Amino acid sequence: AWILHNDTLIQEEELAISKEDRGYQFGDGIYEVIRIYEGNLFTAKEHIDRFYASAEKIKIVIPYTKDVLHKLLYDLVEQNEINNGQVYVQITRGDAMRQHHFPQETSPVMVAYTKTVERPKEMMEAGVHGTFIEDMRWLRCDIKSLNLLGNVMAKQEAHEAGSYEAILHRGEVVTEGSSSNMYGIKNGILYTHPATNLILNGITRSVILDLCRNLGIEVQETAFTKEQALEMDEFFMSSTTAEIMPIVRIDGQEIGNGSPGEATRKLQQAFEANLK
Ligand code: PDD
Repeated sequence: AWILHNDTLIQEEELAISKEDRGYQFGDGIYEVIRIYEGNLFTAKEHIDRFYASAEKIKIVIPYTKDVLHKLLYDLVEQNEINNGQVYVQITRGDAMRQHHFPQETSPVMVAYTKTVERPKEMMEAGVHGTFIEDMRWLRCDIKSLNLLGNVMAKQEAHEAGSYEAILHRGEVVTEGSSSNMYGIKNGILYTHPATNLILNGITRSVILDLCRNLGIEVQETAFTKEQALEMDEFFMSSTTAEIMPIVRIDGQEIGNGSPGEATRKLQQAFEANLK
């Protein structure tokens, strides 16, 4: 398959990354995952904006304009003839002799590749299980950093408990998922953690909040506790790959009547209608 290396499309076998690439050694870089529906990059502008924003927060200067990057990613999808799938794109601070502080001169190294992925339709229909895991990540979760060890360890623990996602909490407060945002609905009001430094401000999250406005669902960007989570009428998570995914049990306990809720279904339908 074709992959993008900096601003050049190459065959993936040709890719060579340095042993001292700072992404490899320090996780010193940032990334995005963008969904492809029917050959189109969904909410590409928003993902590209966040890619540049994350880079800026860690002082990586991306040496292309947003329009050039958009075109490069589009060409990659077209070359690989991906109909439904995703693009993964990352940029690291580049190759330099190992020392912790930023090297004086490096060129960032960007890599992007595509993959065919179907929509998780059965799971979205039936709902999934979640497990509470203490959020032990750093305090800049707003940056879509390559440093995912906290996320990986949380997801693994949830996975071992037989559930689909880790529902992270700092003390009693639910923040987000290990790779998703979290929402509860109580008495018709949707609650989700505010977009602070403690969560990644999901692009799917922004789409959902817009859909709520259109559907007349009241939104409160207010954090809720684990205890409140268990008492929600409906609960769901969202991400680029999981879309709007109902969570019907947390730590084995049923949420609402234990099946995807009415408002969640409405949001899923509106989301789907939005893809066309
Ligand atoms: N994860 N929170 C975290 C910690 C995430 O890693 C993600 C996305 C989200 C949801 O963001 P969005 O709606 O923009 O995808 C929230 C991606 C999909 C991943 O790492 O694979």
